[in-house]
Amino acid sequence: MLISTDKGSGPVVVFLHAFPLDRRMWLGQIESLADMYRVIAPDLPGFGDSPLLAQPSIDAFADQVAEHLDDKDISQPVTLVGLSMGGYVALAFARRQPHRLAGLVLADTKAPPDDPAARAQRDQLIATVRRAGVTAIVDAMLPKLLGSSTQHARPEVVAATRQLASSQRSEGVIAALQALRDRPDATPHLQQIAVPTLVLVGEEDTITPPSIAQSLAQAIPGARLVVIPQAGHLANAENPTAFNDGLLTFLTGIS
Ligand code: MLT
Repeated sequence: MLISTDKGSGPVVVFLHAFPLDRRMWLGQIESLADMYRVIAPDLPGFGDSPLLAQPSIDAFADQVAEHLDDKDISQPVTLVGLSMGGYVALAFARRQPHRLAGLVLADTKAPPDDPAARAQRDQLIATVRRAGVTAIVDAMLPKLLGSSTQHARPEVVAATRQLASSQRSEGVIAALQALRDRPDATPHLQQIAVPTLVLVGEEDTITPPSIAQSLAQAIPGARLVVIPQAGHLANAENPTAFNDGLLTFLTGIS
């Protein structure tokens, strides 16, 4: 069972958040879209107000999103907007529930799984969170999550992101790190995505840089790529105006 924000009416757009955040990272999108769309932003399992899953995995997160739509009696196809970890979940949903999709927005994310070095780094982060709590990893992550423009000129975004990440529960963060570490390769399934797809990426994203976004867009039939200026990995929070423009142009084109 997931807890979500559910606002507005119209075609359904579901927002899936990044690690280690929760649905509050989408405030700048929810407010600007809810007069035209029904916007649903769940906390993924173990984050924010949603309970932990007994056996967390990216596929299980995607199934929880599908169940959440069932709980709300939403049977019409929806557009999924996933950023980074949310993008992994959106790709798993696209593979497992293709008939429930009307469109896909993949922001600051990628299809390949963790390589051995990345898996080892997840294990280190898990050990740090177990030993010293979530805040112990947040300050190390912030310079990667936010672009240099934000770090220099938008202290309020840095502070809000730090606060959001630090408020997560250790058990949820550990479970998600395990799910991220063990996630399957989504690359072989990209060719089968048959809905309109938009790939967004912050031009200063160092975790999933524009070159990776370009490969992702090239692998999905008909996908478009939009680069968000003056934004890093959390492009929606760093440059909401450009992010929302790109998103709305896409959404109005498909509905
Ligand atoms: C995220 O922002 O969700 C993370 O960068 C995902 C990851 O660590 O792979």
